[in-house]
Amino acid sequence: MGLNFTFCDMAAPGALEAAILPTTRLVWLETPTNPTMKITSIEAVAAAAHAVGALLVVDNTFASPYLQSPLALGADVVFHSVSKYIGGHSDLVMGALVTSDAALAVRLRHLQVNMGATPSPFDCFLASRGLKTLALRMVAHSTNGAAVAAVVEAHPAVRQVLYPGLPSHPSHAVATMQMRGGGGMMTFWLRGGLPAARAFLGALSVVTLAVSLGGVESLVEHPALMTHASLPPEVRAELGIDDGMVRLSVGIEDAADVVADITQALDAAKAVIDGGAPAGPATTAPATGTAGAAAAPSKVTGVKRPHE
Ligand SMILES: Cc1ncc(COP(=O)(O)O)c(C=O)c1O
Repeated sequence: MGLNFTFCDMAAPGALEAAILPTTRLVWLETPTNPTMKITSIEAVAAAAHAVGALLVVDNTFASPYLQSPLALGADVVFHSVSKYIGGHSDLVMGALVTSDAALAVRLRHLQVNMGATPSPFDCFLASRGLKTLALRMVAHSTNGAAVAAVVEAHPAVRQVLYPGLPSHPSHAVATMQMRGGGGMMTFWLRGGLPAARAFLGALSVVTLAVSLGGVESLVEHPALMTHASLPPEVRAELGIDDGMVRLSVGIEDAADVVADITQALDAAKAVIDGGAPAGPATTAPATGTAGAAAAPSKVTGVKRPHE
């Protein structure tokens, strides 16, 4: 098709300006990014794209339309995986392009109809019904996300957590400017690599292991073993996707249940890091004296699912 693509880390200062060419026709920005939770100023990227006459498309899937409005910040088109927060119930596969440019809308509609990218009536019903509770759900996702992020950040098994609502996020200032809440997505890195990650995943009982996100139920995924397993290890390393990395989509369950589940699973990871327990699905959160393990509610300790 004669198309050329240039990839760059838009959150790195100067990277976009170096990558953008006079021939660039479209800039595709994802913020926050999956799974690395990088956050980039939409306004700044819009200015750089428009300086060479290129369109800016923003993948707004992680924030949802409730928490971030890219068109108001200069984007020409917004992309959503409707399968995620807009649908909200993990029972729909759909994508959407949104623009306020009438001429562009006609061109996109022409392509959509002629390429057959038309969703079924039932999928449209699910998307429309999901939109009706989007606002309520996003408030709940943000409240629960903030509660979980605080617990994860304070836990000794965790090296780093990236959540837009935490002041420790390197782009928290940008997030505060362009997002209306922290949302439900976060990524953290466990000390202790794969054994600690396996212990964490195996100990969860309220949170389900699955690659999707943005639904009412809390989901966890391990990028190195799941979504990004097909990438060579050196490429994963370049992207910061190591074996201790865990991505969490915090749902709208009772916050205390999610926090308790995450806490006892982090305690299980800590036991492995300290050499006190074997990794794997059989790992429980034993009362070894590690903070929180003995205090975890009985309804979550000792309950296991065959994650692996
Ligand atoms: C940010 C982002 N954009 C797009 C997609 C693709 O969405 P779908 O699974 O609906 O094709 C995903 C999927 O995880 C995503 O996280």
